[in-house]
Amino acid sequence: MALTHPLNRKEFGSSDNLGKMMTSSEAIELLQSWVKNDKLVFHMKQVGHLMKAFAASKGYDDLTQQMWYLSGLLHDADWDQWPDDHCRKIIEELEARNQDPRIIKAIASHGPRYFGVEPDSEMDKMLYAFDELSGFLHAYSLMRPQGYEGMEIKGVKKRLKDKSFAAQVSREDIADASEKAGLSIEDLIQFVINNQLRM
Ligand SMILES: [Fe+2]
Ligand SMILES: [Fe+2]
Repeated sequence: MALTHPLNRKEFGSSDNLGKMMTSSEAIELLQSWVKNDKLVFHMKQVGHLMKAFAASKGYDDLTQQMWYLSGLLHDADWDQWPDDHCRKIIEELEARNQDPRIIKAIASHGPRYFGVEPDSEMDKMLYAFDELSGFLHAYSLMRPQGYEGMEIKGVKKRLKDKSFAAQVSREDIADASEKAGLSIEDLIQFVINNQLRM
């Protein structure tokens, strides 16, 4: 299948910038200037929050947690204004700002079927895994009177099987990401339920 947004690149960022990353407020500022769609901002905050929570659950240090957070928070920053250039635009912006290459690589590989870049590191894989799944759980939470409260794995899986529900969410990507991350769909769903971001 042809890639919809081929990056045609293998290297991202520079190793000179390892450990260099913006503050959370700088990242939020970038989002505010680039993204007018509140739902998209929420999605990125949700994924950033999950990424940070996952890194924290692994006992990673603060700098690493920040790196995971920024990867999630910025991964779709260019989608609102430059959908045809997603995610080339944000990659180039982060390169110009001398950001840690691992953040840039994670963003570049958050949709292997679209960008043609495979997720390699644990951070790459978890960004890929949380991206579609968190959007799906969010859609499910909006149709439940109690939101995420009392949400169960089996209810989520039932909705996943119902192809007409949140039809834009790729079940194929969710299954592929879970396999790549080496985590079961059930464990991923439970993590998202336990660590969701309240609006
Ligand atoms: Fe994306
Ligand atoms: Fe996304």
